[in-house]
Amino acid sequence: MLDKKDDILILAIESSCDETAAAVVKNGREILSNVIYSQIALHTVYGGVVPEIASRKHIEKINQVIKQALVDAGKELQDMSAIAVTYGPGLVGALLVGVSAAKAISFASGIPLIGVHHIEGHISANFIENKNLEPPFVCLVVSGGHSHLVVVKDYGEYEIIGKTRDDAAGEAFDKVARAIGLGYPGGPKIDKVSKEGNPDAVHFPRAKVVGAEYDFSFSGLKSAVLNYLNTCEMKGESVNQADVAASFQKAVVDVLVEHSIHAVKECGFNKFAIAGGVASNSSLRKAFETECEKNGIDFYYPSPMLCTDNAAMIGTAGYYEYRKGVRHGLDLNAVPNLKLGESV
Ligand code: KG4
Ligand code: ZN
Repeated sequence: MLDKKDDILILAIESSCDETAAAVVKNGREILSNVIYSQIALHTVYGGVVPEIASRKHIEKINQVIKQALVDAGKELQDMSAIAVTYGPGLVGALLVGVSAAKAISFASGIPLIGVHHIEGHISANFIENKNLEPPFVCLVVSGGHSHLVVVKDYGEYEIIGKTRDDAAGEAFDKVARAIGLGYPGGPKIDKVSKEGNPDAVHFPRAKVVGAEYDFSFSGLKSAVLNYLNTCEMKGESVNQADVAASFQKAVVDVLVEHSIHAVKECGFNKFAIAGGVASNSSLRKAFETECEKNGIDFYYPSPMLCTDNAAMIGTAGYYEYRKGVRHGLDLNAVPNLKLGESV
């Protein structure tokens, strides 16, 4: 064990969407605390995240969540080596709450500030429970806002080799869930109800993007589900919700798995990881387990709690930025459309 004075403790803050979260992470891979206040129940009645409500709730909760993270970790603010905060991408009003809180704490305490890219956080969640995982590897990032195939060349060094041309995978889950009457948040609900359904009941399309073998497109699949539902309605036929959910989920999983395994083989790595909210999908995890084993690829995935938004993953990403000497000034701003690998 390291000497206490050598330990690097990061206080991490995440508020990019509908989770107000703070965590304390030790030496990059050990969670001392991970506090998440989920606003999901508040947004459910509207069928999706309402940005204005999210920002207001973040303001109400942020100080409480940060204090709780320090208490749970058994640490004082002055024990922290740095404060890491998500500064993009995400909802601008939501991001601003976390960024402003982090800047205020940094200013008052003199503790260095590090802005972290939200997707870098998702990818870094893999380092927490897989202590031996080191770059390079390929990572599939599938969340509510992103579907990226990324080559993680080194800590904080990324190359995006594929992305969605339209809807993100999580967005497709959420929209289809709404259409079949499951409501928000769609991903976990489709995951659950699919267990009762037949994934081969309805054949939905698996889209390929011509000339871009690693890119994804999910809007055609979403339209195919809507068309199927309309046709059933016009014919007066009843819809089996579980069968439609399972068939849709299989179409998404098939595409994600095919593109990813192809990319891993082409890149010549034998390590593959998944990240983001959709990475907690049980069918996706099972499919990757099978395919990776078949192809001699080591498969890494965070536990479901670390797949969806949390601050521990921001603390891990922040640790590797800290080690590289990255520090931000008090002019750090929220950047809603921040690109991976780009710093502002
Ligand atoms: O990473 P995340 O928490 O937030 C973003 O950065 O977007 O991802 C949220 C997305 C939502 O679209 C949600 O429906 C989806 O992840 N999701 C799932 C599952 N759990 C969450 N999708 C499929 N299966 C799940 N079990
Ligand atoms: Zn996220």
